[in-house]
Amino acid sequence: MNEAREHNVRTVLRAFAEIFPEAQKALVMRAPGRINLIGEYTDFNEGFVLPASVDREVLMAFAPRADKKCVLHSLNFDNVVEFDTDKIQPDKNDPWGNYPKGVVNEFKRAGAKLIGFNAVILGDVPAGGGMSSSAAVEAVTALCVKMLARSVLPASRLARLCQKAENDFAGVRCGIMDQFAVLCGKEKKAMLLDCRTLDVAQVTVPDELRFLVLNTKIKRDLASSEYNVRRFQCEESVKVLKRYFPFIKAIRDVSIHDFERVKEKLDPVHVKRVRHVVCENERAKNAATLLGKKDMDGFGALLYESHESLKNDFEVSTPELDFMVEEARGTEGIYGARLMGAGFGGCVLVAAQEEKAKEAAQKIAARYEERFHIKPDVHACAIVDGAGLVKCETQWQEILLEKAENK
Ligand code: GLA
Repeated sequence: MNEAREHNVRTVLRAFAEIFPEAQKALVMRAPGRINLIGEYTDFNEGFVLPASVDREVLMAFAPRADKKCVLHSLNFDNVVEFDTDKIQPDKNDPWGNYPKGVVNEFKRAGAKLIGFNAVILGDVPAGGGMSSSAAVEAVTALCVKMLARSVLPASRLARLCQKAENDFAGVRCGIMDQFAVLCGKEKKAMLLDCRTLDVAQVTVPDELRFLVLNTKIKRDLASSEYNVRRFQCEESVKVLKRYFPFIKAIRDVSIHDFERVKEKLDPVHVKRVRHVVCENERAKNAATLLGKKDMDGFGALLYESHESLKNDFEVSTPELDFMVEEARGTEGIYGARLMGAGFGGCVLVAAQEEKAKEAAQKIAARYEERFHIKPDVHACAIVDGAGLVKCETQWQEILLEKAENK
């Protein structure tokens, strides 16, 4: 176990022992954050994405209760969410509780035999930092509930369940990418995921490539409403495209050639949206091939193209994100960069040469700070396995000993 995890596991178990002194021995589940190499706004268009799970994670220490209550303490938010499995309601003003609530609710709808549980949550996936902290909270809850309910749902079904929870309880009509990446990631691999079939092709990420996430620290309130608008525009476009190509189900089924033939029939804004999705699907597939061939320059060029398309055609960028990407272009050791995730603030993904990555990121961060007077967060990411149980027998014994000594 690495040092950061070891420390966090101890913290979360110690907190669990203090908060729930009467409870049974807890187990610890973990779910990582994710990066997306390329393939943005393609998931809900049933297209292709290339994400990977990374070494920031949410831990949940949990144990069953005798009643139907779920009591969850967040150490990050320093607050408690409590609900009964018989009565689960979303709460608009709750910053994090809707994610676990939504997940428990989905298990209930799927007919699972629910029991109550106590839990303590601690995470180092930056909240609102574009690395899917919400999907990590959903996934970690889903694995705990799965174990308690003795459910046999496979990871891909859990991803769908978590996506539904986010759609219904958090009100964001997100696609499947984040939840799938967090639950199904593999160490040192990026996944080329077909968001229609959920088929995955694993792509080995070359050791000489390093991914960094630079957070602009700009958060736009309109992010979730604009996200839903984009989704609606894509759906409206499909309705028009169906008149010419009756067999299509989603933009994923439209080729660049088809698009060129009928684009005049679309509303001008929809032309841009569809062009982004059609080309981004191609870029995601090509990027996976180039990565497999260790063609880092070719791969990096696709990241810059993706950013241009997100900026000009999908219109989800901001001056801060554009600035970071432009700075990356001029910095030695960087292959490519682009806004990552939903946009409207959030973060930029930088693909850099292993040995120059840190210095390059610091340069961009310094220029960003000079220009916007905001110090961006920089995260160097390692690609790790997706969500699962943490083996922590020893920690428990030590904590029990500590408790006994302090008595
Ligand atoms: C968010 C959503 C994902 C995906 C991206 C954009 O991260 O949760 O489903 O749509 O935005 O690619």
